[in-house]
Amino acid sequence: MKDCRWEPSDQQHQIASLDELRQHCAVAQSDMLGHAVLTHNAVCSVIENHDTFSNAAGSHLSVPNGMDPPEHSIFREAIEPYFSSQRLSEFEPACREIARTVISQIHKDKPLEVVSKIAKPFALHIQCAFLGWPDSLTNTLGEWLEANQKAIVNNDRAALKEKADEFEALIHQQLDVRRQSKTTKDDNTRRLMNEKVTVNGETRRLNEEEIVSILRNWTAGEVGTIAAAIGSIFYFFAQNPDIADKLRNNQLNIDDAIDEILRIDPPLISNRRRATKDTEISGCPVKQGEKVTVLWASANRDEAVFGQADAFNPERNKANNLLYGRGIHICPGAPLARMELRIFVQELQKQISKLEVVEAPECATYPSGGFQKLTIKAA
Ligand code: HEM
Repeated sequence: MKDCRWEPSDQQHQIASLDELRQHCAVAQSDMLGHAVLTHNAVCSVIENHDTFSNAAGSHLSVPNGMDPPEHSIFREAIEPYFSSQRLSEFEPACREIARTVISQIHKDKPLEVVSKIAKPFALHIQCAFLGWPDSLTNTLGEWLEANQKAIVNNDRAALKEKADEFEALIHQQLDVRRQSKTTKDDNTRRLMNEKVTVNGETRRLNEEEIVSILRNWTAGEVGTIAAAIGSIFYFFAQNPDIADKLRNNQLNIDDAIDEILRIDPPLISNRRRATKDTEISGCPVKQGEKVTVLWASANRDEAVFGQADAFNPERNKANNLLYGRGIHICPGAPLARMELRIFVQELQKQISKLEVVEAPECATYPSGGFQKLTIKAA
């Protein structure tokens, strides 16, 4: 029996190491992640069973990610309209303008590191626009996310607390600006301030702690994954010019194609759960209270479901793709993410016809997916 342990901190090439480990175990053990769930079948058995695997896995309020029913459904209902097709079509022109501006930084025949110059700026500008925050906040937000991620990796409680306080201060500032402003210009931050929920029979506005948490989850949910996704799309187009051409010529459904690119190279590595009772996952015993981590980055490349993990086949793989999760916590931001990525690809393909990777890329390490550094040349 091979050693079924997996520590994210030991992995320079997390996707390759998960591919290898999944061949001989469905669930690995990890100091950091607890039971690290690897196969598609095992991951589905966890996420579809929210009574046994609770999302209340952390110690801080996390709306709605860290909640279980019935509380989860109350807050989930409150945020879903923010991603409705009407709200998204209102946001589309701003999104397209940001994509055009960011992509215009790519100059033909000049090498460019796209993670720091294109992917992260796109994700940050889009997030500020989506929340109605000033564009000048993008740098602050970018620095905050980087430091927060470092604190997560190092499990540095003091740094995590400091970052949580900083984010809270940033949100309070945005709420105060809106309270003091005479204009009634609506944006998603102001809408959240007026949002009502009915908890324990009492209808009330969201409190500040809940608003901070929702905005933190949207920001963390959006920026890291969208930036990682953009890097992976650049890489995929450079390696697969025939598929990029099919997309340009409308021979493929663009949303399905992007979902499949991100199944192959996952932007989000994992999410947490906690067992509410003694149970098992694919034969692996799990005790009440133990930590469980579902590894999307492994399940979505499981050969038992997808055949060859790297083979691009959107039609075949669409139904089993766990890119945006499954079950009651399925990503509410998926329609927004899909729109942003679709617009980005459309605008990229209008300006650029060929991409080439010009230096050995650096993969991102846990908890990020995609690339740390990716230098391309456009033609
Ligand atoms: C490519 C981009 C994205 C990917 C791959 C992604 C993926 C996911 C996945 C797999 C989950 C399920 C987590 C679980 O079961 O524990 C999730 C949940 C969530 N995502 Fe996303 N997401 C993306 C973009 C976004 C965006 C743009 C937003 C909002 C602005 C967002 C907000 C959320 C929230 C709030 C949850 C928690 C939902 C709940 O607990 O009910 N995500 N996401």
